[in-house]
Amino acid sequence: MPFSSLFVPSLDSGYLEFFKALEKEFSSFSASKDGFLRRLTEYILINSGKRLRPALTFTASRFGRADGREVLEAATAVEMIHISTLVHDDLVDEAVMRRRKPTVGVQFGDGAGVLLGDYLYAEAFRRLAALGRPEILRVFADATLAMCDGEIGQYEGRYKFDILEKDYFSFLQRKTASLMAASAWAGGALAGLPPEQLKALETFGERIGVAFQVVDDILDLEGDEAETGKTLRTDLLHGKMTLPLIRYGRNLGSSERTAFHKSLTNPNGQVPEIIKKVLESGVMAECRADVASLLAEAERALESLPDHPSRKLLLDISRRLIDRKS
Ligand code: IPE
Ligand code: IPE
Ligand code: MG
Ligand code: MG
Repeated sequence: MPFSSLFVPSLDSGYLEFFKALEKEFSSFSASKDGFLRRLTEYILINSGKRLRPALTFTASRFGRADGREVLEAATAVEMIHISTLVHDDLVDEAVMRRRKPTVGVQFGDGAGVLLGDYLYAEAFRRLAALGRPEILRVFADATLAMCDGEIGQYEGRYKFDILEKDYFSFLQRKTASLMAASAWAGGALAGLPPEQLKALETFGERIGVAFQVVDDILDLEGDEAETGKTLRTDLLHGKMTLPLIRYGRNLGSSERTAFHKSLTNPNGQVPEIIKKVLESGVMAECRADVASLLAEAERALESLPDHPSRKLLLDISRRLIDRKS
């Protein structure tokens, strides 16, 4: 489902042109390749996903005066970085569906997924380097390192059921929020905004990023695959402790907690039962309250930005995140 139907249904013509140009960028990139590489890039790049990160870059860029071509290049690069992480993440999580289609691994083989992810990272950084703005290149390199660091940390932490909430939030900050923060910051930087406004955009991206991943972790348990268009329950199946599972375990007595953790060690066949218990415990409402307070922090950051239609749009994005179903 694209950004426009999910977050802000009535977008002005500037957005419609921007999203059209973004799709054209992906199509012409893919069309410039031959054979297998063309099929792979076409499969993964064209007409899919919410395009939330490019939308952050574009929206932030409108607070000032930015070169449209530069914004488009940065936005294309950020979506390519995001897609690379999805392709690799699906291999790690053994997911079979992404963006309403079989994952790259299922469709073309796991090896193709590894190589395609690498290829798109390189293309993204080639585009960023061509901007000739070392600070933008560095921010995206740092965000990508943070994402990989978060994913590696979470991989290592599988089946460690006694994870602290602060460590869980630190994974989210790195694996998801860092790229959203960089996306919003880069749009502002291309528009020449002053440092305090760049800081506000970065904080906004970072806070909605953490909130976005908590919602994703809620959806992994209670979401519907037909709506999200991706394989769910992978956190549960791979011993990945998410906020609902941490909270549920924390509220149990010690012998029940031991039994709960044992069921997570080998959840096959018990998934519906485990989810039922977690949902009935009421922890989802607690988790949503956490999301609401993260979004309130994001919205406070917007107060340092000028009164401009982009500010209203960022607020709209934040307001819609909590109830997203996909
Ligand atoms: C999925 O991101 C990965 C997470 C950070 C949870 P999105 O939900 O933005 O995925 P697309 O781009 O819409 O497919
Ligand atoms: C990974 O988190 C998010 C990334 C930064 C790649 P998840 O594993 O929860 O993402 P989904 O649910 O597969 O999209
Ligand atoms: Mg995953
Ligand atoms: Mg998930």
